[in-house]
Amino acid sequence: MPIEKVGVAGCGLMGSGIAQVCAQAGCRVVVREVSADLVDKGLKSIEKNLQRLVDKGTISDSIRDQIRARLRGTTDINDFRDADLVVEAIIEQVPAKREFFAALDKICPPKTIFASNTSSICITEIATATKRPGRFVGMHFFNPVPVMKLVEVIRTIATDPAVFEEMVAFGTRLGKVPVRTTDRTGFIVNRLLVPYLLDAIRVLEDGTASIEDIDNSMKLGCGYPMGPLTLLDFVGLDTTYYIANVMFDEFKEKRFAPPALLKRMVLAGWNGRKAGRGFYDYADPQKPRPMQLT
Ligand code: CAA
Repeated sequence: MPIEKVGVAGCGLMGSGIAQVCAQAGCRVVVREVSADLVDKGLKSIEKNLQRLVDKGTISDSIRDQIRARLRGTTDINDFRDADLVVEAIIEQVPAKREFFAALDKICPPKTIFASNTSSICITEIATATKRPGRFVGMHFFNPVPVMKLVEVIRTIATDPAVFEEMVAFGTRLGKVPVRTTDRTGFIVNRLLVPYLLDAIRVLEDGTASIEDIDNSMKLGCGYPMGPLTLLDFVGLDTTYYIANVMFDEFKEKRFAPPALLKRMVLAGWNGRKAGRGFYDYADPQKPRPMQLT
């Protein structure tokens, strides 16, 4: 059965991007936040992204209007009742996610597929808050969602193989390249990316090189679009710290252990671009200046 109506829970950075790409793919989308202000903020950021596409000539005014007409914001979880699929992108906390899905399970018909965009929480632990673990997958998108081509599709030991393949096909329909993976903490990307990012902090911490030289090395030497410390600021230091702790807890390997400097920066609230400072100071967002940290 084709997925026509999608519910997206959370309209922050990830949720708004997911809602946008679903609407662009022709689905009717209801996106939910916990307050009217947050709904408004999320819809405004989608509007800005769509306008960017119009300005570049990627889509016409009329296509933008059609996408917009397929999108609706709400604060009411009951508006997900007739969704074919609900993708969750709320706060990265196990109790909040379990509570959300337990409530959703009572509202949606048994056919509705549930997906979590979590980057590090065990999908099985969330899925078991529902009575439909067979219709539960991970769908992990990347920031910025409208631009990044990848989606990791994650199956647990309980996921129905037909549901898994349906979600892989849905990833393609969204214009993404889906990769299949299993419910191992960090999936594919963060399993490889997180130790790399943490190592970049260790290289800074032990005085091997400066912030700018570390970033330039990976940008210009390996062709990465952003250096690792810029990417850390972009992803959020608090987010990375949380993911690293979850991964360390799962694998008990030193390479996932958050460096002391990362912990100190998170404690200080220097969480990266969104906080105005991280490895760089964003007082002038066009010209970030490296911080003095060591
Ligand atoms: N939303 C929508 N579109 C955006 C955007 C945003 N926030 N930011 C940039 N874009 C678009 C621009 O409009 C532009 O589009 P065109 O090529 O069609 O003109 C394109 O992206 C390139 O943007 P810019 O020229 O402004 O800048 P750039 O070349 O530096 O690209 C970037 C920006 C795409 C973010 C690039 O720097 C990049 O790929 N960085 C790495 C991002 C990355 O690694 N993301 C994954 C993080 S890990 C994660 O998300 C998961 C996790 O679990 C932690």
